Amino acid sequence: MTIRRAALGGVLIVAVLVVAVLVRQGRDADPLPGPPLRELAAKRGIEIGTAVRGTEQRDNRAYRQLIAAQFSSVTPENELKWYALEPERGRFEYAYADMVVDRAREAGQQVRGHALVWFNQLPRWIRELSSDELRTATEQHIRAVMGHYTGRVGVWDVVNEAILDRGGLRRAPFLDKLGPGYIGEAFKIARAADPKAKLFINEIGADGINAKSDRLYEIVRDLKATGVPIDGVGLQMHSNLRGVAPTFVENMRRFEALGLEIHITEADVGIRLPVTERKLQAQADVYKGIVDDCLAVSACKSLTFWGFTDGRSWIPETQPGMGAATLLDEQLRPKPAFVAVQRALSAG
Ligand code: XIL
Repeated sequence: MTIRRAALGGVLIVAVLVVAVLVRQGRDADPLPGPPLRELAAKRGIEIGTAVRGTEQRDNRAYRQLIAAQFSSVTPENELKWYALEPERGRFEYAYADMVVDRAREAGQQVRGHALVWFNQLPRWIRELSSDELRTATEQHIRAVMGHYTGRVGVWDVVNEAILDRGGLRRAPFLDKLGPGYIGEAFKIARAADPKAKLFINEIGADGINAKSDRLYEIVRDLKATGVPIDGVGLQMHSNLRGVAPTFVENMRRFEALGLEIHITEADVGIRLPVTERKLQAQADVYKGIVDDCLAVSACKSLTFWGFTDGRSWIPETQPGMGAATLLDEQLRPKPAFVAVQRALSAG
């Protein structure tokens, strides 16, 4: 009797688990109207990408299907950050990042590796290292990670967010312990680790011409002049309804003139809640502007959104009162912004 009961209990638990997984995996995605963004972008000669959350992609079928159908490039949103990959010194955990990278390959997508050297989302142990130890650990990290993904991740944000708004270099263990030369050092290590990967410096708030983008310009100009290997500049493009900086195109052109590729790496357009129809239209205009401006500059070869559904976006998670920053609503239905991006990619 007790054995039977136990068995019954076991069966029940398994059944509940199966149902839970099925419910979580959910339904198929409702197809989005019109041609997929990746098809339109290919015709315009650019990649169109999104940040991806690995566990969501694993667990949520509709989310997974839309990524494969709509985008030609993906950026693991957190899975390739230092804290995720090397939680203890020398112990690497690739499983979550591998999930995203492997699916991208199945879907014929580029992968943007984000980010090797960044002040944020570092493991704790980094802070305890001496200068010499940090130099060695940085080299080992870059070599291990790029080695693991050679041939699978085509582009890396080698250095991310190195500059302050007013143009100074941002405090980070790397700056404090290795000095400003850490930027060039990281690029040289990266080139040696995977000679075929494209190497980018990525920055937030440097979309238009301002003190930060001026400093970014000087840094990459000097890197180029001294023979440091760098292929491109990533402009994150986190935006809001104030719109795109009027000097965005001009800014891209000066980087283009240095012979660099430009990627828009983290575009989103935050809205102050509550959402209204008028704000959604204004948001669609901002998105249209981002696409138009990228298409206006031949060096702008890739445009990635920092998430594609309002249900999975860092904006409401990190900026109280803000949200609804992406192309699809929480139910994965197209917002005016989605249609605007589609139209902007089709025009011309
Ligand atoms: C954000 C992620 O979206 C969040 O999930 C995480 O909690 C914090 O980082 N600039 C970057 C990205 O370079 O890595 C950040 O991503 C957003 C700002």
